Amino acid sequence: MSEPRTLNIGLIGAGRIGSSHAELITRTVPNARLVAIADPVEGAAARLAKALHVPAAYTDPARMLADPAVEAVVITAPARFHAGLVEQVAAAGKAIFCEKPAGMTLEEIDRVHRAVEANGVLFRIGFNRRFADGFPQARAAIEAGRIGTPQLLRSTTRDPGLANPAAVAPWTIFLETLIHDFDTLNFLNPGARAVQVHAAADALVAPDFRDAGLLDTAVVTIRYDNGAIATAEASFSAAYGYDTRAEAFGSAGMVTAGDLAASSMRYYGSEGIGIDTVRADTQSMRGAYTGELQAFTDTALGHRAPGPGVGAARDALRIALGCIESCRTGAPVTLDALDAVGAAR
Ligand SMILES: NC(=O)c1ccc[n+]([C@@H]2O[C@H](COP(=O)([O-])OP(=O)(O)OC[C@H]3O[C@@H](n4cnc5c(N)ncnc54)[C@H](O)[C@@H]3O)[C@@H](O)[C@H]2O)c1
Repeated sequence: MSEPRTLNIGLIGAGRIGSSHAELITRTVPNARLVAIADPVEGAAARLAKALHVPAAYTDPARMLADPAVEAVVITAPARFHAGLVEQVAAAGKAIFCEKPAGMTLEEIDRVHRAVEANGVLFRIGFNRRFADGFPQARAAIEAGRIGTPQLLRSTTRDPGLANPAAVAPWTIFLETLIHDFDTLNFLNPGARAVQVHAAADALVAPDFRDAGLLDTAVVTIRYDNGAIATAEASFSAAYGYDTRAEAFGSAGMVTAGDLAASSMRYYGSEGIGIDTVRADTQSMRGAYTGELQAFTDTALGHRAPGPGVGAARDALRIALGCIESCRTGAPVTLDALDAVGAAR
């Protein structure tokens, strides 16, 4: 019997989520091996590589891509570099797992699409909520017709804290936070397409940074072509933990997904019953991150496992870009018009 294959992965971007993904690839994905890490900040890749016993570290991602031992690449660099990095990795002929968003504009996403197609490489986007407990089960129930016709959908992200408001790039709440909710809503409304968005957003957590462009609180209404109406909302500061939940309500019932409980432990005392809550995405999404990296690895090794690709990345980004336009104008935005602008560029 032949030895089971292992996928040799290189990681670009040894920051917060890169460190978590690197640890998960090393410890929880049995048929993946992290063989190299690249980060332009002197010492960043080397430190993470040493901690995880990864054999190679680079400050230049291009040097890592030139290494034939690296078969697949996980991109966890800041969002504005994703499209360019995907193009580089695709040109090197390696499978790609890219954190969200895959690009900052529709033009960038379309470049990503062309690069992936032209080089015939696997591309997966880090919409981890599709792998979080309850979410794929909710989708399966909807596909099986158990809620009837979807009518109202809802998705929420509340991050546990805003440590450094000055470091948050403008529009992050739509492009990097709510983009998870947009994908979740698309995922829970199978076959439907978002047609219109209307966004309201403000800096309620750190109002001193409003003039610098910070938005830390937002609500978005989305209309779909199957008639369903969805809301997505986000806050950068939930006092009680990291809160990601979704709901799909239809003519025959409802499904919900997401739970903040850190464990099944319940504390019973004189003041009542208490539940400890999850405090970080790297805690609550650990299983989801492992699931998406496992699906990517299996697919790259030829054992196809479902996961979101360029189409899902684009479908969520167009909603985020519609929100930005809606905030600028104060009016609802028709997404087809936005698509037409993207296509004309
Ligand atoms: N899916 C999720 O739940 C999730 C959670 C957090 C972050 N993210 C996404 O992951 C990405 C990174 O976020 P983060 O919080 O880890 O950021 P971070 O700033 O902590 O880390 C980014 C790392 O990339 C490195 N870097 C900078 N420029 C680079 C370049 N040109 N090429 C390669 N590396 C470069 C930085 O030195 C840093 O080490 C963002 O797109 C973010 O939206 C996803």
